[in-house]
Amino acid sequence: MTEHAQPILPGFKLGNFDINPPIALAPMAGITDLPFRRICRRFGIGLTVTEMIASRAVEHGRERTERMAELDKDESPVSIQIAGSDSKFVVDAALWAVDHGADFVDINMGCPVKKVVKQVAGSAMLRDEALVARVIDAVVKAVNVPVTLKIRTGWDSKSKNVETIAKIAEEHGIQMLTVHGRTRAQMFNGKASWEDIGLAKAAVSIPVIGNGDIIDGASALEMIRQSGCDGVMVGRAVQGNPWVLGEVSAAVMGLPKPEAPTPEEVWQIVHEHMLHLADFHGVGRASKLVRKHVPWYSRRRRKSAEFRASFQKIDDWEAQIEAAKAYFLSDIHDQGISEQGLEIAV
Ligand SMILES: Cc1cc2nc3c(=O)[nH]c(=O)nc-3n(C[C@H](O)[C@H](O)[C@H](O)COP(=O)(O)O)c2cc1C
Repeated sequence: MTEHAQPILPGFKLGNFDINPPIALAPMAGITDLPFRRICRRFGIGLTVTEMIASRAVEHGRERTERMAELDKDESPVSIQIAGSDSKFVVDAALWAVDHGADFVDINMGCPVKKVVKQVAGSAMLRDEALVARVIDAVVKAVNVPVTLKIRTGWDSKSKNVETIAKIAEEHGIQMLTVHGRTRAQMFNGKASWEDIGLAKAAVSIPVIGNGDIIDGASALEMIRQSGCDGVMVGRAVQGNPWVLGEVSAAVMGLPKPEAPTPEEVWQIVHEHMLHLADFHGVGRASKLVRKHVPWYSRRRRKSAEFRASFQKIDDWEAQIEAAKAYFLSDIHDQGISEQGLEIAV
């Protein structure tokens, strides 16, 4: 840190850990696996969270579920996120998460997906405040690590209950609350309400992390200003753009905006990400996963549409690496980041 750097947020303690800078990578199912989190951590964030793991899936003990909870050797502090509404299963999943090395257990009460809400899990739980209290209570009593909670602002605009849920959470032992400033009904539409995040912040004294629509350092600072949150969590803007975490981190630490990566640096990150995916998932699965991740990296670059179209047609792993390399290193002087703003994709 430079001599004059004035952090905008001081960070906070969670159990024995310092969350500093107070910047988290959002959990994203199918995206924030170990290789992705490994790439993201290097940009100086204070917390990573696994993808959501359904508590019922834990009972089945499948290999795939085990992989979702696999943490990097030096990945700390890190949360394993679990979901479910039956206290027995959620407690078992929480104990399993701690056994797998979680520094914190995060309970998901924000997932809007139909399959999840049909089982009255994820965001559907926000409609049953007694259930929220019961599940939190059971998990907090069962595990010996801090339990955190991630919520939306309510089920729909008529039944927003972010303050009530925040108070229930604090009362029952939740040590950090993350609020995505949308209702379930909004899914990913409209704008996240940073004021609603502020309502949660004003209602409790545990740290509140604001989430929703941060795309760069400036938007992170604006969310902090509007909500008074203690930290920020970034999701979709990180896809194919992990260095945005370095920008958000610098802004929150009161440091100048870092230089955008050069095409060579972008290729280095893309290449490493591909190799980590192959290492972790095996080439067969990695070959499918790169079809999602690699085109994201091309998003704000020239000839992105052509690259995406041609990249999707390649099956062979070595050919995928060659095609990505050719694209990201081609025409270095010409290719830089386009002037268009970052568009967030769901
Ligand atoms: C593809 C995708 C998967 C997600 N999976 C999860 C999840 O497993 N658990 C969770 O709490 N939130 C999940 N989210 C929500 C994000 O964590 C975050 O709350 C949301 O994207 C808003 O933040 P953003 O505007 O920075 O993306 C997911 C979002 C996306 C786009």
